[in-house]
Amino acid sequence: MGPVPIFLEDVIAGLSRPQKALPPKYFYDAAGSKLFERICRLPEYYVTRAELALTRANIGAIARFAGRGCALIEYGSGESLKTRLLIRALRPAAYLPIDISEPALQRAALKLERAFPWLEIVPVNGDFSRPLALPAPRGLAKRVVYFPGSTIGNLTPGEAHAFLRMTRGQVGPKGAMLVGVDLKKDPEVLHAAYNDSRGVTAAFNLNLLGRINRELGADFDLRRWRHYAFYNAPLGRIEMHLASLEAQIVNVGNYRFAFARGETIHTENSYKYSVEEFRALAARAGFTAEKLWMDRKGLFALHGLKAA
Ligand code: TRP
Repeated sequence: MGPVPIFLEDVIAGLSRPQKALPPKYFYDAAGSKLFERICRLPEYYVTRAELALTRANIGAIARFAGRGCALIEYGSGESLKTRLLIRALRPAAYLPIDISEPALQRAALKLERAFPWLEIVPVNGDFSRPLALPAPRGLAKRVVYFPGSTIGNLTPGEAHAFLRMTRGQVGPKGAMLVGVDLKKDPEVLHAAYNDSRGVTAAFNLNLLGRINRELGADFDLRRWRHYAFYNAPLGRIEMHLASLEAQIVNVGNYRFAFARGETIHTENSYKYSVEEFRALAARAGFTAEKLWMDRKGLFALHGLKAA
């Protein structure tokens, strides 16, 4: 089965649930990836800037924690400024970017090849929602997984646990992990970050319906849907939904879905963890929290984890 049948199956399954939902991994087609880059530059979206600033301010200590000459494994496309900072300071023996999008992976690898001609780059096409076998490391280089951007917050705590267990297996008993985690904070600040005044986050969310139309021949009328994001405090997460502005029927392939007025499709979660909460999660997955770097305002945390 190719990628299109799987996309269709995922959409049908998601829209068949009592709380309709769509998997967030499908946000990132070409248009979605462009919109996401714009999100990262929005004044309200503090996440990217806070993480970059704290990485820059602590790059020496971060590199010492990971250890020069390690094999650096990154979940994500890896052409970011943060990755470049880390590679420059760390001089890893090898760099393994893992990404769900083959074009994004190739683009990132090519750019990094030019910037770091001495670096061995081993791109791996895959997604972190499934167990993933990595190419065997050359020699005995220590393995370090880099997972920035609070992408771990887009997993449920159960999925995050499974992901951490998987990476714990990948890095082995001498391995380590650097995880960027967005912190719990003033709900107003969180709310603004996912409801920007320019409507870029709304366009990013709505593009998921556009992609389903383009690739699966569905007939979502984007004018009849609205971006709806809020902070669910008891669950400690931002929830992103698409809300149906009126009662309507939508065709996806041979399937028809009815939406009531105000009914939503749940598209993504972004969990926020206090330092203690994330340390507890990491401990349950076999990691010890060794280091912690934070920005001055306490917006974002970078955790240095060692195999326990
Ligand atoms: N992981 C980041 C976060 O949760 C980035 C992100 C993923 C994001 N999907 C998003 C940001 C959708 C805004 C909207 O914040």
